[in-house]
Amino acid sequence: MAGFVDSHDNASVLSAIDRLLLLLERHFQDEERFFAVTSYPHAPAHKIEHRVLRHMARHIRGAVELSRDGSFVGLSLRHFVQAMVEHIIEIDLGYRPYLHEAE
Ligand SMILES: [Fe+2]
Repeated sequence: MAGFVDSHDNASVLSAIDRLLLLLERHFQDEERFFAVTSYPHAPAHKIEHRVLRHMARHIRGAVELSRDGSFVGLSLRHFVQAMVEHIIEIDLGYRPYLHEAE
């Protein structure tokens, strides 16, 4: 992460973060549509997790816009990716038993 941030200008990093935010938003919206058509009982807590992750991503974008130092942005991106991986493993996989309801 830090290598990417260090080797690209702010505009390129912002563009990459914007693409990430777009993909993230699509993914969260897809999941939240799934929650709406199933009886998944943890939808409210899951949506709060999405809100926290959106906030983290926007905070990092804001840091890039303010031209914070690359090591801060790189470390923040690393923490964000780690949080996303944990979300997928610990939270997203929790709705697998409800997938049959959406078919
Ligand atoms: Fe999720």
